[in-house]
Amino acid sequence: MASPPDTSKSMKLERYNSYIRRVNSTKLMAASSKVLFKATLFVSLILILFFSLNYPSDTSPGHRLHRHAHFLTSAFYGGGAQWEKQVRHSSTPRRPDGLSVLVTGAAGFVGTHASLALKKRGDGVLGLDNFNSYYDPSLKRARQELLRRHGVFVVEADINDGEVLAKLFDVVPFTHVLHLAAQAGVRYAMKNPQSYVASNIAGFVNLLEVAKAADPQPAIVWASSSSVYGLNTENPFSESHRTDRPASLYAATKKAGEEIAHTYNHIYGLSITGLRFFTVYGPWGRPDMAYFSFTKDILQGKPIAVFRTADGKEVARDFTYVDDVVRGILGAVDTAERSTGSGGKKRGAAQLRVYNLGNTAPVPVGKLVGILEGLLSVKARKQVVAMPRNGDVPYTHANVSLAAADFGYKPTTDLAAGLRKFVKWYVGYYGIQTNKAAKKEDGGGKDASAASEST
Ligand SMILES: *[C@@H]1O[C@H](CO)[C@@H](O)[C@H](O)[C@H]1NC(C)=O
Repeated sequence: MASPPDTSKSMKLERYNSYIRRVNSTKLMAASSKVLFKATLFVSLILILFFSLNYPSDTSPGHRLHRHAHFLTSAFYGGGAQWEKQVRHSSTPRRPDGLSVLVTGAAGFVGTHASLALKKRGDGVLGLDNFNSYYDPSLKRARQELLRRHGVFVVEADINDGEVLAKLFDVVPFTHVLHLAAQAGVRYAMKNPQSYVASNIAGFVNLLEVAKAADPQPAIVWASSSSVYGLNTENPFSESHRTDRPASLYAATKKAGEEIAHTYNHIYGLSITGLRFFTVYGPWGRPDMAYFSFTKDILQGKPIAVFRTADGKEVARDFTYVDDVVRGILGAVDTAERSTGSGGKKRGAAQLRVYNLGNTAPVPVGKLVGILEGLLSVKARKQVVAMPRNGDVPYTHANVSLAAADFGYKPTTDLAAGLRKFVKWYVGYYGIQTNKAAKKEDGGGKDASAASEST
């Protein structure tokens, strides 16, 4: 599949060109008046300076992180009236008493699904995403295009960019922030530990700083992680269990986030709800997750590594289908009480919550592979290896009775049904012909050639 064109950049360029045309015509009209002419020239120069600074070609995360140091680029990020109009339009609810939600990480997997669900029921949704290259950014651009088609505008910025965030809160009185932007992945933390600190700790603090200063303060619902249970061996995992033994830096930064949430709730009266997601999967998923890379490797005839634990057992996960998680997110958003502070001052006790959102049915990874083999009609080349000690935990299992009691959370999609939907999306998105499809085409011939990727 061809990667979609970078629409936001071409849109920006178009906006820039129309701006210049407008400036030029203004100049002609004002030519009779010397004073006006000079003023126009001055404004033009300022605009040119501003635009040339504001549209850097380098979009690497590091570059973006440093961009906020420049007053001109960030204070007016996005370029004026037209940009503000898009921001306002996207954030405006289309139903009575609808919410106005800022979704960070909107071009991410869960972010896209949650944004669409909010938009579909009539809430205003503004996305924010830095489109970093932790995994293929073209997938994020495709999700952005999907969001655009449904009327969700995604601002391209980093959560560490305080001025952009402050500007957004100046333009829109958000009722809620759904904070899903994060550095994800457990093993990558050994390669790039600083990226976890930058997104999951510094970025979260930056967001809470802006939220606490906003008037009105929004309620915050954010993504923690089941990984905070770390070396916990009590099963199923309950919110009351210990979470002070993280097994990865990723888990440690999420646990830190939960403590930081406590602080901002305590000092500033922010209403904050943390959601501990359990291995979320589904269409438009993250390529770094096992079910996704297994699908890719099985189709390409490559071997896949299936982990077994130190005591010889199979690794198992409480795989949770994305639609179930999104229903949980909406439940958390709808039961979130208002923040109590204003202008950075607390006016009373505010709500602070944390919930497991899992499927309550752990599945051994071997069974996951078996389901994929069936769906793809390809036998996997399994290599069972000892789980490396790099942050993964052997077993996850959610107790979701708290979320069930407080907002009726009830997962309804089992792994086979959910993977069927994932595989359907996967082969469509990547334009892959599977054995099954091939068999149908050549009349069910047994020797249908191995699935091939036609990219
Ligand atoms: C699940 O958690 C609730 C508390 O939230 C607890 O009362 C219940 O006993 C737990 N269930 C199991 C099976 O551990």
